[in-house]
Amino acid sequence: MSAQIISGKEISAIYREKLAEKIRQYPSENMPVLAVILVGDDEASKIYVRNKKKAAAEVGIGCEVMEFSSTIGENALLEVIDELNDNPHINGIIVQLPLPKTLNSLKILSRIRPEKDVDGFSPYNTGLLSYNHPDALISATPKGVLELLLSTGIELEGKSAVVVGRSNIVGKPMAMLLTNHNCTVTLAHSKTGNLPDIVSQADIVVAACGRAKLIKAEWLKDGAVVVDVGINRMDGKLCGDVDFEAAKEKAAFITPVPGGVGPMTVAMLLENTFAAFCRQQSAQACDYGNHQCGCGKCCP
Ligand code: GUN
Repeated sequence: MSAQIISGKEISAIYREKLAEKIRQYPSENMPVLAVILVGDDEASKIYVRNKKKAAAEVGIGCEVMEFSSTIGENALLEVIDELNDNPHINGIIVQLPLPKTLNSLKILSRIRPEKDVDGFSPYNTGLLSYNHPDALISATPKGVLELLLSTGIELEGKSAVVVGRSNIVGKPMAMLLTNHNCTVTLAHSKTGNLPDIVSQADIVVAACGRAKLIKAEWLKDGAVVVDVGINRMDGKLCGDVDFEAAKEKAAFITPVPGGVGPMTVAMLLENTFAAFCRQQSAQACDYGNHQCGCGKCCP
């Protein structure tokens, strides 16, 4: 029997509509605002940023895109982040990746104040995720994948999961998130020797390695749940990291590309921005010490 298709397009539309409804409760002069820093001329990044801005406007989130030449110096970029950190009208800050090689991504991302780090890429938020702490702002793609998995109704606890790909922004946080949901997780990558064997034992497969149609139907366990994060081009057409047409005959649930994870990533970024906004509004004390979050209780 053919797999059930998990439509990220449809599920994300429901999330965005619910979010818009919540944002409508606030007066229009007090809307959440996201700042997006875009450095250089990467065409794909420009498209992603345009999509984020459009989706933000649709739910009632302001989005200020700040564009810089690829020649911008590290200190200048850090100063921009400092200003956004101190600007009370900005609730979330993201730096679109990849950055030009001349810039140290870790240093740049670390400068975003944790409460405004709505991509969850700073070491502080990845650390909170590893602690399974409720205040963690979790990066949007893994968070979106988790929501897609939960949408199937399957119980995650006790399942074996394999994540293929160990990037800092998807693979590693994905493995952590699934671990926090009591899956037994294998994090596979380009140097993994026996990938077909490892995939064949997994109840849940998250493909995030950026290799077109790498994951074959024959590798999958019967009835596996397959989530494809990849966006590749093959013969002029978009495809994922999974050989979708064959895999859908073996899996119980599978996401398409496009229309799977992509729209969820945007929806989760908007959710994180709203969550950051709410926390900043209520100025509740954080419970993990003095880290200059601006909450007014734990900070000077
Ligand atoms: N580049 C690829 N994916 C992402 C993302 O989710 N956020 C940012 N900031 N950059 C990216």
